[in-house]
Amino acid sequence: MSLIFDHIAGLNSARPWGRVLDAGTGINSLRWLRGLPADELTAVTGADLMVRRIRDALGPSPANEKIVTGNWADPDFLSGKRFDTVVADYLIGAIDGFAPYFQDEMIGRLRQLTAGRLYLVGLEPYVVEKPGTPAGEIVFRIGRLRDTFLLLSGQKPYREFPLVWVEKQLAAAGFSIVATKRFPIRYRARFVNAQLDMCVNRLHLVPDDLRSALAAHVETLRAQALALETRLDGLRCGFDYVITAEPC
Ligand SMILES: C[S@@+](CC[C@H](N)C(=O)[O-])C[C@H]1O[C@@H](n2cnc3c(N)ncnc32)[C@H](O)[C@@H]1O
Repeated sequence: MSLIFDHIAGLNSARPWGRVLDAGTGINSLRWLRGLPADELTAVTGADLMVRRIRDALGPSPANEKIVTGNWADPDFLSGKRFDTVVADYLIGAIDGFAPYFQDEMIGRLRQLTAGRLYLVGLEPYVVEKPGTPAGEIVFRIGRLRDTFLLLSGQKPYREFPLVWVEKQLAAAGFSIVATKRFPIRYRARFVNAQLDMCVNRLHLVPDDLRSALAAHVETLRAQALALETRLDGLRCGFDYVITAEPC
């Protein structure tokens, strides 16, 4: 189990899980939630492809679980449903791909959905300002290059939101914050390769006259980043966060 899921399990140890909503499901959150004593588990995704990936990785749903495809921007989707425990695991950063500019309203929807407690996991944006350390700078360059490829190939980058922005929106939506914790990130070679492979896989979609220069740039950056990752024993940069909140 990850540090973040351990942390949430610890925070929840004195209360029952009850009816649980995984509001932005994926293989990691659902694998973890399946191991908990929930009465019912509803897992939501915006993509049928995610449902197939989950079934391939985790097998069929147990009797108390439903995986539902829909869009939180649709006011009729799961309208009127309330859950004892809501987990929003990297949901806010993924909203732009399904419902652009809906992030603040999504927090309002989470308020309607939460009868008991919300655990919101997010990534502090790191592709914003140039960081002051060699590790931070190379992670920043990787993030910017990945986003460039997504934009040049007509796709949308993730849009992460800062911890303080999310806290403000939660308060405005009628939540009180129970706890907040930051988890510093140490990026490994796997991250470097996954992000840069994402670029390589999109080379055929970028304009012809940029292709060979961008391909060379990706491999130069990969070599630099992997060498630094080895030298520094990982690339320390930024943090994930968990916000625990309850309706006021
Ligand atoms: C980055 S993934 C979450 C990661 C996941 N919890 C895991 O285990 O790795 C984001 C999830 O939120 C879903 N999502 C994003 N925006 C959505 C929307 N507007 N409506 C419904 N689902 C949405 C995506 O389809 C995806 O299932």
